[in-house]
Amino acid sequence: MSPSPTEAESPEVTAQEWWRSAVIYQVYPRSFADSNGDGIGDLPGIISRLPHLTSLGVDALWLSPFYVSPQADAGYDIADYTDVDPVFGTIADFDRLVAEAHDAGLRVIVDLVPNHSSDEHPWFAEALASPAGSPARDRYIFRDGQGENGDEPPNNWESVFGGGAWHRVNDGQWYLHLFDVKQPDFNWANREVVEFFDRVLRFWLDRGVDGFRVDVAHALVKDEFLPDVETWVAELETGDNRGPMWDQEAVHDIYRHWHRVVSSYGSDRMLVAEAWVAPAARIARYVRPDEMQQAFNFLYMLAGWDAGRLREAIDESIAANTAVGATTTWVLSNHDCIRHASRFGLSDPTHWSSGIGPNDEQPDAVLGLDRARAATLLTLALPGSVYLYQGEELGLPEVTQLPASVRQDPTFFRSGGAEIGRDGCRVPLPWEADAPAFGFGPSSASWLPQPDSFRQHAADVEERSPGSTLDLYRRAIRLRSQLSLGTGRLEWLPASASIVDFRNSDVLVITNFGEEPVDLPEGEVLIASSDSAVLDGRLSPNATVWLR
Ligand code: GLC
Repeated sequence: MSPSPTEAESPEVTAQEWWRSAVIYQVYPRSFADSNGDGIGDLPGIISRLPHLTSLGVDALWLSPFYVSPQADAGYDIADYTDVDPVFGTIADFDRLVAEAHDAGLRVIVDLVPNHSSDEHPWFAEALASPAGSPARDRYIFRDGQGENGDEPPNNWESVFGGGAWHRVNDGQWYLHLFDVKQPDFNWANREVVEFFDRVLRFWLDRGVDGFRVDVAHALVKDEFLPDVETWVAELETGDNRGPMWDQEAVHDIYRHWHRVVSSYGSDRMLVAEAWVAPAARIARYVRPDEMQQAFNFLYMLAGWDAGRLREAIDESIAANTAVGATTTWVLSNHDCIRHASRFGLSDPTHWSSGIGPNDEQPDAVLGLDRARAATLLTLALPGSVYLYQGEELGLPEVTQLPASVRQDPTFFRSGGAEIGRDGCRVPLPWEADAPAFGFGPSSASWLPQPDSFRQHAADVEERSPGSTLDLYRRAIRLRSQLSLGTGRLEWLPASASIVDFRNSDVLVITNFGEEPVDLPEGEVLIASSDSAVLDGRLSPNATVWLR
């Protein structure tokens, strides 16, 4: 029987295994900070804003892709895995970024995209120029079509971004792309592919990176017979992917192998899986002792603003991870989902979709932000590791009014606009209220337009405002570290329908999901999610407090 979260001892955290309790900040390079005024963020821009991360108190940053790419999926379509795209800078900039981050005490995790390359990768060009059945084609998943003339796709799989998952090339064969047509899937049964990624891992480890975030880690291996699926249950969003292209047993062989490669550089290097699988026990298989060190906790992210669902997600994920000796990660937002300050302001605060458009229900910004701050304070009190997405520390909302003409996410185009896509959470950050592009860069250019509402969230405004979201994040991250909550142990207090309350070490954490204030026990208020969170000894609705 696996130990329950309250019985289990937290795995020991050594300095080496820093990730077990770390707060890790996701930098989405194209939207973080622009140094040259072209409207797209870059590596020198990130370097210039490292003090923001150190003053926030995070332990590490994770960089979304900055590699050479035609940017058909914002860099998740890579044409050269071991160089920096000129739009983001140079490899010398990367080395400087790692050096300066390390000097500032920040670890650096980079994105690894092993499921697919860009169709502009030299290997794919070679595959297209080579005949059916050639070794060059075997690095990808090419098949003949069905039907008399082979003009039907090899099977009925769909692309995660909408439309079919197969594209026909000039000589009549088809190739598989689970994402955009410009992202052909690799064939992981091919030795050359395996060896290639060993070289990629070593290239970045040699340059000093501390870890890798592994993109769609559950997709690399497909059932070799590529069978039709009865129904397309591959919705990334449900976290409940079943089917011959997801979560196949053999992906774990790859991660056991990578574990050996990565740990040959020292036990302080790590891998974190982006694996949209369910239930928690399936996710935990990616973090067994000889595989990756962490997996994103999408169960928690999908729970939304709902006491019962959050309790369940916390319980299930701690139990499943503890059973394999891993700590749990917690995440509320990333570059693929609606920012939690907006999701939680919808009439259904458990709503999940790729984005919010001008014709959709518009979130209640004030309510959403109150809940987001409360949810963040709850999250930062949990034992394990927390992932933050750039801009959430400013309380940034989803941008819901982007016109179709500026949208860039392939999801929007491949679904014919039915899926609004992820651009709304990727709008460049506001740093200075009164500068062009709110200080994103030296010019007024911004690859997605920033709304006026970003002014009030600009970092320099929040910097000067006690009680701002930035101030809350800084204080909470500092306290989390001082009180060693990341390495603590969670003990539930008796459940009630609209409250989440637990103890971690000697801190009592209470979140009120209900509509009425609740009486608080005696205790010193260490931190509260807003100035009005605690009034007359009661915890307001949509608020969190830490008591001691
Ligand atoms: C992951 C990334 C997402 C990307 C997709 C295809 O889900 O997080 O942004 O579009 O993989 O690489």
